[in-house]
Amino acid sequence: MDHKKLEALLHDMSLKEKIGQVFQISGQLLVEDAAAMGPMQEMGVTKEDLALAGTVLGVTGAERIQNIQKEYMEQHPHHIPLIFMLDVINGYRTVYPIPLAQGASFQPELSKECARMAAREAAAAGLHVTFSPMTDLVRDARWGRVMESTGEDVYLNGLFAKAMTQGYQGDGLAGAETLGACVKHFAGYGAPDAGRDYNTVQLTERTFREYYLPAYQAAVDAKVALVMTSFNTVNDIPATVNKTLMRDILRKEMGFDGVLISDFGAIGETIAHGLSSDRADAARRALEAGVDIDMMSGAYPEKLEQLIREGQVKEELLDEAVMRILELKNKLGLFENPYKGADAEKEEQVILCPENRALARKAAEQSFVLLKNDGDFLPLKKEEKIAFIGPYVNRKQLLGGWSFLGDAADTVTVEEAAREMASDWSITFAQGCQVLDPETRLVGFGNDQETCGSPDDQQALWEEACDAAREADKVVLFLGEHFLQTGEAASRGVLELPQVQQRLLEEISSINPQVAVVLFNGRPLDLRLVNEHSQAILEAWMPGTEGGPALVRVLTGGSEPVGRLPMSFPYCVGQVPVHYDEFPTGRPYHEPDQNRFLSKYLDIPNRPLYPFGYGLGYTAFAVSKVRLDKQEMTADETITASVTVQNVGHRTGTDVIQLYLHDVSASVVRPVKQLKGYQRVTLEPGQETQVSFEISEEMLRFYTADGTWASEPGVFEVMIGESSAVEQKAEFLLR
Ligand code: NOJ
Repeated sequence: MDHKKLEALLHDMSLKEKIGQVFQISGQLLVEDAAAMGPMQEMGVTKEDLALAGTVLGVTGAERIQNIQKEYMEQHPHHIPLIFMLDVINGYRTVYPIPLAQGASFQPELSKECARMAAREAAAAGLHVTFSPMTDLVRDARWGRVMESTGEDVYLNGLFAKAMTQGYQGDGLAGAETLGACVKHFAGYGAPDAGRDYNTVQLTERTFREYYLPAYQAAVDAKVALVMTSFNTVNDIPATVNKTLMRDILRKEMGFDGVLISDFGAIGETIAHGLSSDRADAARRALEAGVDIDMMSGAYPEKLEQLIREGQVKEELLDEAVMRILELKNKLGLFENPYKGADAEKEEQVILCPENRALARKAAEQSFVLLKNDGDFLPLKKEEKIAFIGPYVNRKQLLGGWSFLGDAADTVTVEEAAREMASDWSITFAQGCQVLDPETRLVGFGNDQETCGSPDDQQALWEEACDAAREADKVVLFLGEHFLQTGEAASRGVLELPQVQQRLLEEISSINPQVAVVLFNGRPLDLRLVNEHSQAILEAWMPGTEGGPALVRVLTGGSEPVGRLPMSFPYCVGQVPVHYDEFPTGRPYHEPDQNRFLSKYLDIPNRPLYPFGYGLGYTAFAVSKVRLDKQEMTADETITASVTVQNVGHRTGTDVIQLYLHDVSASVVRPVKQLKGYQRVTLEPGQETQVSFEISEEMLRFYTADGTWASEPGVFEVMIGESSAVEQKAEFLLR
C-alpha cells in the first residue's frame, strides 16, 4: 500500500479505532474469552476495545492465526489486519542454545542462521514479529536474565545484535519466512542493582552510552522493526515514560523510526515506580515519550480517549503512533496478505525438520566451553569404562527458561544420544539425584517444579550412582541449575549448584577421583567446589533440542569444544559484578603484592575464576609476542598488529585469537582492556600461522571528557591472546 493510502486510512479512522491500534492484547483473550476477561475488565478494558486491538501477543499456530485474523478483519470497520507477536528467543519449536551460549560460540553468523531458521518455523506457524534479540549488556551473574543476553562485552553484543536482527528479518519483512525483530529492553535493563530483576539501574551517562547503548544501536542500524522499552529507570525516570531517552536518544540520535512497544504492563508500572500519579498520567506520559504500543497494561485503551477528548493529550501524538503501526503492517505485507507466511502444511514440514535439528546440534556443539582439562582427561576414550552420572544424564529439559514453544519431549537426552551414537562404548548411566534440593521451592513458579520422590527413592538413586562410579575408570557428572532458576524473575543470591548436587559431586569424587563435570546452566556459577573435585569441566549451558547428541560428540572426541566465555565466571558471588573491561584504580593490585593499601579483597582474589574470552580445546596453542608494523600512526593511518599462532598439541584444533586495546592516558579513565576484534584459526598439529589485525583510529574512539565520540592522541597498548587474561603487550603512539 503506498503511503498516501495509509494516510487516507488513518484519516478515516475513528478515535476508538486508532486507540485500538496502540493496544496489544494477550491472545488468550481471543481464544479463551471469558476466563481471561476478568483481569482485563479490572484494567478497564471492554469487549469493544478487544475487537479493535491492533496487535496480539502469545497466540500461535497457522490455522488458529488464520481463523482469528479472518474473523477479526471481517468485523473491523476498516478491515485492518492484526500483527501476531511472540517471544521466539532461542528457537521456535526447534530450540537452539540459549543466547548466552550462542554468545560463547563467538560466531554471530551461526546465530544469524539460528534466527533465520527460527523465523522460518515461526512464520509458517503464522507469527509476524518476535521479541528478540535481547541485547542488554550483562555484568551481574545474579540476574536471571543473563541467559537471554550474549554477555558482558559491548563489541561482541553488537555483532550478535546485528546478526540476529538480520537473521529474523532476512531480505525483508514481507517475506513468507521472515519475522520482524524487536530489540529489547531499551535501555540498560541488564544492570539492575544487586542483580535483582526489575530493580533500579544506575549508570553514569558515559557508561550508559559507551557500553550499554551500542548493541541496541547495532540492531537499529540493521533496521530492526521494533524496540521494546525496559522496566527499569534510566536517570531516575522509568524508561517507558522517559521522553529524553525515547524521543531524543532513540529516535533522534540513534535514528530509530520503527515501532516502540512497552514491555508487559510497563506503562501501568510507572505508578508503582512513584512517577506517574495514576493510569491516565501513565498513559499520557508514555504516549508523549513516543511509546506506540501498550503491551498489556490497558492504560491506553482505558484512558487515551478521555485524555484526548479533554485536550490533555494531542490527537496528533496518537496519530503518530498509529501511523508507525500501520507502516509496520504495511512493511509486513499484511494489507496485501494478512496471513503472511501462515501455512499449516509447511508448519508441519519445517518444524523440527532434519535441517533445523542439524543446525541446533551444530550451534550447541559450537557453544560448549572447556574450562578445565587436566591431563587431557577429555575426550573420553573408547577403551575406558565410563559412568555418566547426575540429574542431567536423562533430562529432557535442556531448553532453558525462555522457550515457549519448545517441547522438552522433542529433546534428545545425553543418555539417549550416547546409547545411539556410542553404542559400542562401555558407558553406564545413573541419575544420582534430582536437580533441586528437596526443600527448594521457586517462589511464584507454581506447580511446574518436579518432586524429588520419597527418601527411599532418593537413596536408591544415590546408591546406584555410587556403584556406577566405583566400577568405572572415569566418571562424567552432568550437573546444573534447574531451568527455572534462570530467565525472567529468576535472580539468585547464591551462585552455586544446588546443595544435593554438590554433595553428589563430593561423594562420587571421593569414590572415584577421575571425574569430569558437564554443566547445564544459564548464568556464570561459583565453580570453586566443582573445580576442586574434578579433572575436567565442560560448560554446556542450556544447549537446546539437540544438546544430548552435541555433547556426546564432543565428549567422545568427534569434535572439540570451541566456545569461549562471553561472561566472566566469578571466583564467588562476593566479586559480582565482575567483568574484564574494568577501570584501573589508583591503587592497582598485582598478586602477590603484600602492600595493605591496594585495591583488593582480604579473602578472595580479584580475578574471576574463569575470565571472559577463555576456553580450552583438545589441543594447545602457543601465541607469540605481539609485533607492530610501525610504532606510530596518524588518525588516517592504520597499524597492523600480528602474532604467530602455533598448534603445539597433537590434534587439529581451533583457537579464537583476541585483540584487546588499552588507552594508557586519556581525558577520562579508560578500561584496562577492550575487545576490538578476534579471529578463529584452525591448525593441524605443528602448523603455525600469522594472525593480523588492522588497528584504525576509529577503534580508539570513546566519549571524551567533553562528551564527544573521538580518539585522543597518546600511547595505546595492544594485547593479543587467547582470552581477556592476556598480559603480553606492545605499544604505539597515536599522533
Ligand atoms: C516480559 C519480558 O520482559 C519481555 O522480554 C517479553 O518480551 C515480554 N514479557 C513478552 O513476553
